[in-house]
Amino acid sequence: MDYLKINGIKSLSGEIQISGAKNASLPLIAMTILAKNKVSIKNLPHVVDINTLLKLLSNLGASCEFNDHNITVDTSSLNQTKATYDIVKTMRASILVLGPILTRFGHCEVSLPGGCAIGQRPIDLHLKALEHMGAKINIEAGYVQATAPDGLKGCNIIFDKITVTGTANIVMAAALAKGITTITNAAREPEVVQLCEILNKSGVSIEGIGTAVLTIHGTSGKLLDIDEFTIIPDRIEAGTYLCAGAITNSELTLKNVNAKHLGAVLAKLEEMGNSFTITPDTITLHPTAELKPVRIITQEYPAFPTDMQAQFLALATQANGTSVVEERLFENRFMHVSELQRMGANITLNGHVATVNGKTKLSGTDVMATDLRASSALVLAALVAEGETNIHRIYHLDRGYDNLEKKLELVGAKIQRLKE
Ligand code: EPZ
Repeated sequence: MDYLKINGIKSLSGEIQISGAKNASLPLIAMTILAKNKVSIKNLPHVVDINTLLKLLSNLGASCEFNDHNITVDTSSLNQTKATYDIVKTMRASILVLGPILTRFGHCEVSLPGGCAIGQRPIDLHLKALEHMGAKINIEAGYVQATAPDGLKGCNIIFDKITVTGTANIVMAAALAKGITTITNAAREPEVVQLCEILNKSGVSIEGIGTAVLTIHGTSGKLLDIDEFTIIPDRIEAGTYLCAGAITNSELTLKNVNAKHLGAVLAKLEEMGNSFTITPDTITLHPTAELKPVRIITQEYPAFPTDMQAQFLALATQANGTSVVEERLFENRFMHVSELQRMGANITLNGHVATVNGKTKLSGTDVMATDLRASSALVLAALVAEGETNIHRIYHLDRGYDNLEKKLELVGAKIQRLKE
């Protein structure tokens, strides 16, 4: 297994190129199941989760041609409708094939994803919505067996909770359904918006894009003609590198980034004393040597994203004063705390609330990554820790960060990927 060796540095400087968004790529790759043509996708990140989903699609009979960060996906020869446990267990977002396969073929079998490090992550809202659209859902031997022999029917769906992949799944299911589907309490994340925009351009008329109420006019089974598209920039990767600049008091410029997707994150960085120069596709961070403490509550977009919580917890260890971070979406998303404490961070946990007393000197040591965003928090801490930090189990990091060590090395970080 690989691990990262990082030596604390004084500061970074230069430009970081942001990759395409992992969480936009996954539903958009699943969306190719709805196409009658070969679909070209540009600006895909090189991350493990994308490879996992592409492997799942090829197991189902689709074919993919790669060309660096671009792929062409052809699902015309897709002839399997069972997503097996061996793949689904490695990536819960595999559930995103359920809606598209069911609405195209009238039946689908997907392994239940099982738990995950950060929480239970149930899919009850996905299944309840599909049943509402006329699917028969049976759970047997760890698999969801869904059938809709006469196709899915449009209806009014109200999500009890806002669910990102739940919204994406139902939007895709509704795309080929008979009639109109409304989704109330829909997720408004930019990744969901891009999925809706592309479907809307491909013959599925969708109203309310970007709002909490989506109206989808199904094609009654007619497959879609989907033109080439480019994945939007990864706002969480961008937020992570902004934290790298803030925690090391470094001026950094991010390229190929959309600041409009980072409103809540930029606001919190400003509250801590940083400032920015923003253009349509770049963000330059002007850091402060005296970071102020911050209060954060994670909520659905456009509020502060849970996927940036761990990174801000690491940053808050370098702020002068007491910061409070409340995690409202997932029940177990503080596993980075114990690792940060081992580096010297002064953090107390009380249920879903972490209180961070800064500024504390961090010391390099051996630490273990536990989940994707926790891994990036450890990288941020290691950048300012005294001495050497070895971050183990970085397969978690590789699921969602494209070439992180190279991007940080290019701006001056002392970072190496080594073998255990
Ligand atoms: C998406 O996960 C993201 N993953 C996650 O990013 C992100 O943390 C999460 O949204 C919240 O923003 C992808 O887009 C691939 P949810 P998702 O359904 O869709 C509950 C990362 O680091 N819920 O929006 O699985 C659930 O338990 C990953 O890139 C139900 O109760 O999250 C949670 O409390 C981690 N029943 C809340 O809703 C359901 O059927 C939000 O979950 C579905 C969800």
